[in-house]
Amino acid sequence: MAYRAVAYLSTAVAGLTLADIDHLLVDARAHNQVAGVTGVLLYDGHQFFQYFEGPEENAERIYERIRNSRMHVEINELHDYTLHRPRFHHWHMSCRNPHGSVLQKLCNTEWLHALEQLQEEVGQGSGTPALRDLLAFWERQVRVA
Ligand SMILES: Cc1cc2nc3c(=O)[nH]c(=O)nc-3n(C[C@H](O)[C@H](O)[C@H](O)COP(=O)(O)O)c2cc1C
Repeated sequence: MAYRAVAYLSTAVAGLTLADIDHLLVDARAHNQVAGVTGVLLYDGHQFFQYFEGPEENAERIYERIRNSRMHVEINELHDYTLHRPRFHHWHMSCRNPHGSVLQKLCNTEWLHALEQLQEEVGQGSGTPALRDLLAFWERQVRVA
């Protein structure tokens, strides 16, 4: 089966609260689970970086939801390509905010597990450009935290 992989950067609208992020998280996780879409959403308090992958049609449906969201602007697509084997088996989200909600902390813990695998893969030179960009965004986020 062919999978579509997309990575983009966007700017959060001003005034997003922790509750807004929780709402996004619950809503996105539920939709992604049904659609079989996996990946990572990183939020540094100003910008979002999202990498997601899933069966072609479902990935497009999720992408449309993302593009229609009023929670961000200036969506800048960085990568959009076809994969033959999915790289992520779950959907994760990580925020830089150390005072995030319980839900955000839980998602962050899950992401830290996936991160180890990703670092290994990219370190061995087998990561795609989208995964390298994801890791670079994460490392910048950690450095300024
Ligand atoms: C950065 C960002 C990432 C998102 N990622 C997903 C996603 O992976 N799957 C999904 O179904 N919706 C996703 N959404 C849509 C949100 O779930 C939706 O925007 C949120 O529930 C609030 O709805 P509203 O923007 O119409 O107010 C995303 C939205 C944003 C801003």
